[in-house]
Amino acid sequence: MSRTVLVVLILSAFAAGCGQPAKIRHFRIGFSQCGDADHWRKSMLAEMQRELSFHPDIELIYKQADDNSQLQIRQVKELLAEGIDLLIISPNEASPLTPVVEEVYNQGIPVIVVDRKIASTSYTNYIGADNYEIGRIAGEYVAALLKGKGKVIEVIGLPASSPAIERKRGFSDGISRHPGIRLLEQVHGDWVMQKSESALGNTGNLLREADLVFAHNDVMALGARHAAIRAGAHDMKIIGVDALPGKGAGLEMVSGKQLNASLLYPTGGTEAIRNAISIMNKALLPKETFLQTLVVDSTNVRMMQLQSDKIFNQQKDIELQQGMIAEQLRVYKSQRTMLYVLGITLCAAVFFAGLLWYSRNLNKQINRKLALQNEEISRQSRQLMEMSAAAAEANEARISFFTNISHEIRTPLTLITGPLDEMLQHSRLQGGDRQQLSLVRRNANRLLHLVNQLMDFRKLEFSKMQVRASENDLVLFCHEIVEIFQQTARKRGMDCRLVTSERSLPVWMDSGMMDKVLFNLMSNAFKFTPDQGAVLIKLEKRGGEAVIQVQDTGIGMSAEVMQHAFDTFYQGDVNNHKGSGLGLALCKELVQLHHGSITASSGKNRGTIFTVTIPLGKDHFRPEELSGSSAREEPQFYTADLLPVPDEQLEPVAGNRRFVILLVEDNPELRSFIRLRLSHDYEVLEAENGQQGLQMAFEYLPDGIICDVMMPVKDGHALLKEIKADVRTAHIPVVLLTARVTPDQQVEGLQNKADAYIVKPFDFKILQHTLNSLMANRSHLKEHFTADVPAGLRSAVSRKTELRFVSEFTSIVENNIGNEDFSIEDIYRQMNISKVQLYRKVKALMGTNINEYILNTRLQKARYCLQHEDISVAEVAYKTGFSSPAYFSTVFKSKLGVSPTAYKGKKKDNGTGNDKAEWT
Ligand code: FRU
Repeated sequence: MSRTVLVVLILSAFAAGCGQPAKIRHFRIGFSQCGDADHWRKSMLAEMQRELSFHPDIELIYKQADDNSQLQIRQVKELLAEGIDLLIISPNEASPLTPVVEEVYNQGIPVIVVDRKIASTSYTNYIGADNYEIGRIAGEYVAALLKGKGKVIEVIGLPASSPAIERKRGFSDGISRHPGIRLLEQVHGDWVMQKSESALGNTGNLLREADLVFAHNDVMALGARHAAIRAGAHDMKIIGVDALPGKGAGLEMVSGKQLNASLLYPTGGTEAIRNAISIMNKALLPKETFLQTLVVDSTNVRMMQLQSDKIFNQQKDIELQQGMIAEQLRVYKSQRTMLYVLGITLCAAVFFAGLLWYSRNLNKQINRKLALQNEEISRQSRQLMEMSAAAAEANEARISFFTNISHEIRTPLTLITGPLDEMLQHSRLQGGDRQQLSLVRRNANRLLHLVNQLMDFRKLEFSKMQVRASENDLVLFCHEIVEIFQQTARKRGMDCRLVTSERSLPVWMDSGMMDKVLFNLMSNAFKFTPDQGAVLIKLEKRGGEAVIQVQDTGIGMSAEVMQHAFDTFYQGDVNNHKGSGLGLALCKELVQLHHGSITASSGKNRGTIFTVTIPLGKDHFRPEELSGSSAREEPQFYTADLLPVPDEQLEPVAGNRRFVILLVEDNPELRSFIRLRLSHDYEVLEAENGQQGLQMAFEYLPDGIICDVMMPVKDGHALLKEIKADVRTAHIPVVLLTARVTPDQQVEGLQNKADAYIVKPFDFKILQHTLNSLMANRSHLKEHFTADVPAGLRSAVSRKTELRFVSEFTSIVENNIGNEDFSIEDIYRQMNISKVQLYRKVKALMGTNINEYILNTRLQKARYCLQHEDISVAEVAYKTGFSSPAYFSTVFKSKLGVSPTAYKGKKKDNGTGNDKAEWT
């Protein structure tokens, strides 16, 4: 946009600089001529045009009326309508033309009247010789020529035209002073030769009688000569008016003796144009411009002709020069046009050069910027490459470390499983030992399986795992797999079969890989299918493909789990079962190596179908993929952990179970392992996730909680938070048990008020000691408040509901210790039992009276406050729910044998003091 504006500006500036001079206003002159049949009128027009040739800015619109006044009136009106700046008119007759001339004049258009006049003064300028004077001079000249005596005939012009009227009057006055001159006759020639000749012919003898004819113009005078010759009056003297130069015109008539004399009557054409220009240039002019006249006869005609010839030649020169000027002007104009074009081209060139320069600069700038950006990008990409190389290196190092470690793990695992198998085969093994060794075997297998899968992935990642396809009978192959799982199925009351209508189905495949695929799918099916369910392998040939379906009646997968089922490391949370995230991903990769596909269809609680499709034939394999067979792995790796965990087979030996521990752990084997070991010293309650654990904690108010951190439904931290936030359970010590080991994670646990944090794998003794010490502390504290509960009571309260009752009762009392209005009614209302039930239950379970228990609890708390808090006795009294300090002191002294004040002082002296109550 701005560039366009710039172009326009430059071009306009150039046009202003190289353009034409300021344009002169264009004028239009209308010229109305009464007629142009005679030489005189033609001469007038020629003079005008010659003069106008010096003024190219003036346009002349010319109309002639053939000596017809009505026509001339119409033509003037036409000129007016066409739009003229000035009117030049030579009216045919004065009166008829006067109104139309006045109309023009009254519209403000200047009017120049030439030769003949109108009957009013409504004009700007009149140009012409004085016709009265012409008539008068003619009269004088006639008298002189006839030497004062003679007869004369006058031929008059158009009677209504002003020259005819004025010349007639002038001539009459001219001859009137010479009495010897007699005017024989006046005839009308109307300015026309033939009319003059015939009018004179009609005078008969008068013409022969006359000595001289005076005609108002030269053409009528020539007509008179013709008439005189015809009448035989050869000596007739004839005088005319006009004395025009040129062929056949007045001067020639005089020099040729056709006329004796002629009075000069100039046309005024040149003057008319000059005056018009003056008027249009607002110059002041006199109303009348009179032209000179003189008598031309034999004495001066020669000189007049010479002069007129000279003028004629000069005019020719002027015309020639004008032609040359016109040519020059044409050349000038074409050169000027050329110059304009050149100028515009130059301007455009300058402009485009500027534009080019600007664009080049801009380009340079952009290039510089781009170069900088490029440099920056190169630098960044170098950095990225370095970083990615470093990352790749680090990753490679990590992966090879990982691979090496996996190998390292495999070796000792194999060394563990080998001797274990031998020991398990040993018949002398006791039931408990066998069970523990089986547990070890199962978990070693599981580890081995995981390590194998990881190594397979590693191989797949680096394309080191190559298919070694051989022809196998898929029916037989599937049958073998089903057989392996059937033992497990029988133990769990499940239906496990191969369903196929094929007798045999030859398929080119890597049997080792397909083993892994089918074992994984079958293991999953067994894992997620409850006992008494069904797991089927369906096999069919569909077109050029073998289709294997592993179908179960298990818990199925949600749409979300199914969407990611084949993603590496995706651990779908399927009813608390978490996988490694490797199995299905590995299956997919292995099936793809066979140019096949694997899909799953499932719905929550609607079972699952995994469909594996592999192409038949061997054309899809590369030659190097068709070499030999691969070994099939030991299938028990996969089936070992599909059986229910043997539980409770080893009955723990119950020792002195003083405390109840809630164990919250999602791994059933670990749960069982810990439970068995704790059972000797603790009553163990079990929960398999955080949610269940929380419910049980509120229900049974255990003495301690051991809790895993990573658990489905609700994790350990969430459980801990809720336990510690609730007044009913806040006092319960919680031990967090986890494989998460970062310091931040430990801090998180401790911030949530975990009482201990034990990292897996742990030495069981640490857990045991931690628990023992927490229980001892808790017991220690509790004795401050429940010192009256008989020591044997805790062991007696072994049943869970009773334990729950005692916990609830004691916590209600503890929570109301500072409430002096607290009554037994509050307790049984809160516990939602009857008063009698409460009395009986407390007596039976705790062997104590309720009021006495409350009092003892208050006193116990009071002792604690007196010992550990820096507050007055009175404050302690109110804090522990006594209605007055005096009553508190009385009761305290009667029970402890010492006043509170003395007790406080004594404890200060003794430092920490002895917690043990002095009463029973
Ligand atoms: C031409 C003419 C002249 C004469 C004049 C008078 O038409 O007849 O010969 O002098 O007009 O208007």
